[in-house]
Amino acid sequence: MKRDAPPVPPVDRDAPRPWPWWPPARSPEAVAAATAAAQPSSDASFGSVVDGTLDVRHGPVLYLDGITVSFDGFRALNALTLTIDAGELRCVIGPNGAGKTTMMDVITGKTRPDTGTAYFGQTIDLTRLTENQIAHAGIGRKFQKPTIFERHTVFENLELSMKADKRVRKTLFARLSSEERDRIATTLAQIRLTDAADRQAGLLSHGQKQWLEIGMLLMQEPKLLLLDEPVAGMSDDETERTAELFLSLAGTHSLVVVEHDMKFVETIAKKVTVLHEGSVLAEGSLAEVQADPRVVEVYLGR
Ligand SMILES: Nc1ncnc2c1ncn2[C@@H]1O[C@H](COP(=O)(O)OP(=O)(O)O)[C@@H](O)[C@H]1O
Ligand SMILES: [Mg+2]
Repeated sequence: MKRDAPPVPPVDRDAPRPWPWWPPARSPEAVAAATAAAQPSSDASFGSVVDGTLDVRHGPVLYLDGITVSFDGFRALNALTLTIDAGELRCVIGPNGAGKTTMMDVITGKTRPDTGTAYFGQTIDLTRLTENQIAHAGIGRKFQKPTIFERHTVFENLELSMKADKRVRKTLFARLSSEERDRIATTLAQIRLTDAADRQAGLLSHGQKQWLEIGMLLMQEPKLLLLDEPVAGMSDDETERTAELFLSLAGTHSLVVVEHDMKFVETIAKKVTVLHEGSVLAEGSLAEVQADPRVVEVYLGR
């Protein structure tokens, strides 16, 4: 039986914030300018790099505050407040139906929140951008089912994903600059597919396909990566290599990883957020949240 959603506390937007970075730089003018700058020109689908507009000087790359999403009166997210620091690797866990995927839908613009604030850096208001604009602004999302081009080679898949100006690069077979080749080579090494560069992507193992899709995201130079159950279906060896990949990406990227595999979470997590009924139930190291009686109840008590 589903419990009634707890009431949403009123949000006082004028109340002082615990974080020093909250209002100062976020004047309405600064927000309007940065949000507008994150909206690429109309013909761009992969191009139009938005650089210099993501403001993370005060730490957080992502700031969600009081986000509520209702489906037919049921609150999938309930006044969700969450902050991710630049360069952080955050794991998000929680029972099925906790709202983890819905949270990613809100961040990527797939779902509009009923109430609440969602900022990318200090100045980009995600609730005012479309899914495409959010992707261009630097948020990459990996879905569970890889969306690779099965009939193309691994190399071509990365090439097709490259964030480049479409006016310059018209076709797959336009000559690549040495810099572009280097970028593809670097990404191939990162995702451990250098030796498979010329293989048809459809012939890769399940885990390799997942890595290729992560590589395709990386070619678009995202600042924030959202990964929903990335090691589901992977072998132990592939899971271990994925942990190494994520650890190598942290620092230069911010990552939000939703995962049920606790061994994997233990390997990569510094800070873990536990979601439950659309809100943050606990936050801390994995050991801390696992020792939290409320978390134990949610996982074992029902
Ligand atoms: N499009 C939708 N329409 C109706 N209910 C939805 C929709 N998306 C999610 N929900 C509900 O919202 C809750 C949270 O779902 P979800 O975010 O997928 O949870 P999680 O990813 O943590 O398992 C669930 O009860 C789910 O059934
Ligand atoms: Mg989910």
